[in-house]
Amino acid sequence: MRNVDEDTITQIVISRHAEAPDSRLKRIMTGIVQHLHAFARDVELTEDELYQGIRFLTDVGHITDEKRQEFILLSDALGLSMLVTALNNHKPAGCTESTVLGPFFVANSPDYENGHDVANGAKGEPCFVTGRVRGLAGEPVPDARVEVWQADSDGLYDVQYDGAATQGRGTLRSLEDGSFHFRSVTAESYPIPYDGPVGRMLTALGRHPWRPAHLHFMIEARGYERLITHIFRAGDRYLDSDAVFGVRSSLIADWMHHERGRAPDGTDNDTPFSTLDFTFVLNRTNPTRA
Ligand code: BEZ
Ligand code: FE
Repeated sequence: MRNVDEDTITQIVISRHAEAPDSRLKRIMTGIVQHLHAFARDVELTEDELYQGIRFLTDVGHITDEKRQEFILLSDALGLSMLVTALNNHKPAGCTESTVLGPFFVANSPDYENGHDVANGAKGEPCFVTGRVRGLAGEPVPDARVEVWQADSDGLYDVQYDGAATQGRGTLRSLEDGSFHFRSVTAESYPIPYDGPVGRMLTALGRHPWRPAHLHFMIEARGYERLITHIFRAGDRYLDSDAVFGVRSSLIADWMHHERGRAPDGTDNDTPFSTLDFTFVLNRTNPTRA
């Protein structure tokens, strides 16, 4: 195997994996080698371009830390995250569709009682959210764990501020009838972080970094598949050009605008506010896999 050439190298690399003890790893790495080699042949990759690509990935690594996950952003911006989400979340018609998790989810967000304000001081117009968790047959799902997170009116998540308090995220439990409700701030469209290598990539490709306004949800309940999704705001100008390809028509909802006055929680608001209502439908876990 001394005379490796462009015609034989792919098979030679793959054959070195023959003894890999982990069959799944073997399959994944074989696929990566096949596709990377096919890509280099297809675009007739030059040596300069290979090193430019390596420098780009090095920059992605250098800017990544506990708070900034540029690799997730890269996967999102290339549509890979949404593809993997779609491949792994085939559900029966009628179930709420899944979309990307994104880089701003933080596990163990603070618990809130229904009716409380998850904004916790985040900037923005007040928004009153009502929702309910159901199964496909319409059955209410009580005691579901409902995690919500969102950006403020400046388009920033709490973790994007230095040393910030936890704002605009929280965990609630659905009530006996499957319903939940909370107060937050009205979601606005915002750009994904574009001050790093992924932003430079988007600019070089003539792409914008904007996401349509949305609220993130992760819903878990015993006997049902976990749902990771967003609710998108109808009318947003970026619904057809989401920078991370996450929009599904079934996830678009009206945020109703209200002038000041009595809010759904019975409080009197002296500023305008919005309301949002959405029903989440979960898929049952496969009993043979549960
Ligand atoms: C988000 O919606 O939080 C998000 C998703 C993908 C990339 C950047 C942000
Ligand atoms: Fe988001």
